[in-house]
Amino acid sequence: MIYLDACATAPLRPGVLHRMIATQDQAWGNPSSLHGFGLKASEALERARFQIAEQLRSDVQDVVFTSGATESIHLALHGMASSVEPGRLVISSVEHPAVSGCANQLAKSGWDVSEWPVDQLGRIRLECLDELLSPPTRIVSLVWGQGEVGTIQPLLAVAEACSQRGILIHTDATQVLSQGVPSWVQLSVDLLSASAHKCGGPRGIGLLMTRDRNRSALNPLLSGGGQEAGLRSGTESVVLAAGMAEALSQIECCVPADLARSGHGISALRDDLRDRLIKDERLTVCGDPEVRLPHHLSLLVSDHDGTPVSGRRLVRSLDACGLAVSSGSACSSGKDSDSAVLTAMALPKAMRRSSIRISLGDWIEHKDLDVIVERFQAGLEQALCS
Ligand SMILES: Cc1ncc(COP(=O)(O)O)c(C=O)c1O
Repeated sequence: MIYLDACATAPLRPGVLHRMIATQDQAWGNPSSLHGFGLKASEALERARFQIAEQLRSDVQDVVFTSGATESIHLALHGMASSVEPGRLVISSVEHPAVSGCANQLAKSGWDVSEWPVDQLGRIRLECLDELLSPPTRIVSLVWGQGEVGTIQPLLAVAEACSQRGILIHTDATQVLSQGVPSWVQLSVDLLSASAHKCGGPRGIGLLMTRDRNRSALNPLLSGGGQEAGLRSGTESVVLAAGMAEALSQIECCVPADLARSGHGISALRDDLRDRLIKDERLTVCGDPEVRLPHHLSLLVSDHDGTPVSGRRLVRSLDACGLAVSSGSACSSGKDSDSAVLTAMALPKAMRRSSIRISLGDWIEHKDLDVIVERFQAGLEQALCS
């Protein structure tokens, strides 16, 4: 099998499991305990936090450990929304369901939720900026790198506009962090969410990046023992935090504006694969062809007559041929629901079930491309015959 589904989850990076085992062996105590076992655990936890803060060039207090991006997103949005008067919350129309679901909950408690429309490539329409950021907008949540179609949003421009208007901005950076760790000091967003398992770390841990200026206004989702500076109660998982720190330490730092840089590394590999695959006229590229996650390829599939082919059927045929990819986004427990993202991009209904996502990681090399293309063609023929 060749694993081409890094956006769903990635295998552990080298050394991550080793560090987690060592942490479990040596620092298994409860970090809140005052005895030596507790002190060792608390030291290991803070070492992990320090390492992540150093990598992100942030203060250590800015890093809040959660169970993953879904929880971080809820903490960010509910946490901010409950500390200000309800007003308008703006989210893009291509958010992960964790964000749109959270926005739906806030709509029930008096928030007016507006969706930022996107064009056919999945890019938010910047011409709507002034209208959407006018009063009573108080909070904006914008996905940085879209998981289903790969489009990178103009986060820096929106963040700048928000800060000029005193609007809080949260970004869902879950798919971006695996491609480059941005500098928190240089990023003008208030809150950032991510999951370790998309970055070659363990599942069950994520982070919410916060800032000193608004941390005290953030209301926790979980109360209890007051861990994570009161923002996330519950005994901390030191082992998972250590695993996340190890994984993130192996990811290159990046200048946020260069995230979609093309032409080298994994994006060159992706471009080569894309060019070989789309020689077959039944495949077309979906999402922004240029400003996109470097490891991400989204394709729409049809037969020779132009009739869309079920992405789910193709995923099963490709699996039988030795390729693990996903249809659209793999984050919705394998449900066959219509894609909200492709609907927002105004794709015709029949085509919305014909998307597949290929996402690469550093376990794929150039020499693997021949066999990937061969297996893909075999899988496609099989899907068309079944
Ligand atoms: C953009 C984006 N946000 C949030 C999530 C949720 O991440 P998790 O399931 O790790 O909480 C995902 C998962 O795929 C994602 O792609």
